[in-house]
Amino acid sequence: MSDRVQAPLGARDCEVTDRRATGGYVIVSALDAEGPDPKPGQFYMLSADGWGTHGGRPFLPRAFSVADAERADRGVRLDFLIDAVGPGTSVLAGLERGARLRVTGPLGVPFSPPRELNPDAAGAILVGGGVGIAPLAMLRRELARRAFPTRTLLGFRDREHSGGLELFRCQEVGLASEDGHAGHQGYVTDLLAVALKGPDAHTAAVYACGPPGMLEAVRALCAERGAPVELALETPMACGYGACFGCAVPLADGGYMRLCVEGPVVRGDRIATAIVEGAGHR
Ligand SMILES: Cc1cc2nc3c(=O)[nH]c(=O)nc-3n(C[C@H](O)[C@H](O)[C@H](O)COP(=O)(O)OP(=O)(O)OC[C@H]3O[C@@H](n4cnc5c(N)ncnc54)[C@H](O)[C@@H]3O)c2cc1C
Ligand code: FES
Repeated sequence: MSDRVQAPLGARDCEVTDRRATGGYVIVSALDAEGPDPKPGQFYMLSADGWGTHGGRPFLPRAFSVADAERADRGVRLDFLIDAVGPGTSVLAGLERGARLRVTGPLGVPFSPPRELNPDAAGAILVGGGVGIAPLAMLRRELARRAFPTRTLLGFRDREHSGGLELFRCQEVGLASEDGHAGHQGYVTDLLAVALKGPDAHTAAVYACGPPGMLEAVRALCAERGAPVELALETPMACGYGACFGCAVPLADGGYMRLCVEGPVVRGDRIATAIVEGAGHR
């Protein structure tokens, strides 16, 4: 899983094959006839017809994690989980079957295999928040294929900001919600704190994606308990392939990394904080 899959040069047109609402989110599926199979944690820069129609916005493509990818007869089916928060995500969430989706990718570094992240790993713990659950859905299925023991913990703000559970194709999911509409009332990090009690922390490989506040809580908890963790971060991305430096994230030992080429998946101990300037999701 750790080696990135390189994107072919340039953008490709894909056909939207399905669109379905899931809670407050939308899953858009498209057939990528020419692209390679992505790995969990990688992302695509997306745009579509209708780009630039909201008073000229959005101007640039937007970044999206791949939530599922499955080889089909005529290419690879890509699923994206979308939270419509602005002009780009609203256009993408409204795409119907037969529409054109423009993709560049797969981009970025994927999640590492558990024993690469923690040589003593006996199990993986996936911690997702909000629409950030997307890359973990694909990771969970990859780990299930390898029969690696995995626990999934997901948290949502409220009913409106939740959805996509079916992407995990798994009944055993620990749920938390801030408004109490599903599972434990509180934060998903409350569930993680229980899972990392005692010696279990040293044999865990933790993977997380979600809003910056949640990721920072996961990073700090894992550091305190000695559990190796990889975080999939979010920053505003203008190009997605290393040219603009718009996605720079400060490193723990000084300097910066470009999140689009050295991330979006980053080891928790490489960064001082997961609170990233300009990340939209709260
Ligand atoms: C690597 C990576 C992977 C990503 N994966 C996904 C994904 O799988 N699904 C997904 O939906 N998004 C994902 N995002 C986030 C997505 O790219 C951004 O939210 C994008 O900028 C939205 O574009 P827009 O044109 O709709 O809104 P923008 O014009 O970019 O933003 C409009 C306004 O909305 C604000 N905003 C952004 N998010 C929220 C929010 N949750 N609540 C309230 N206000 C908000 C912004 O700060 C801004 O003020 C990912 C980002 C990165 C970097
Ligand atoms: S988004 Fe342009 S360098 Fe990362």
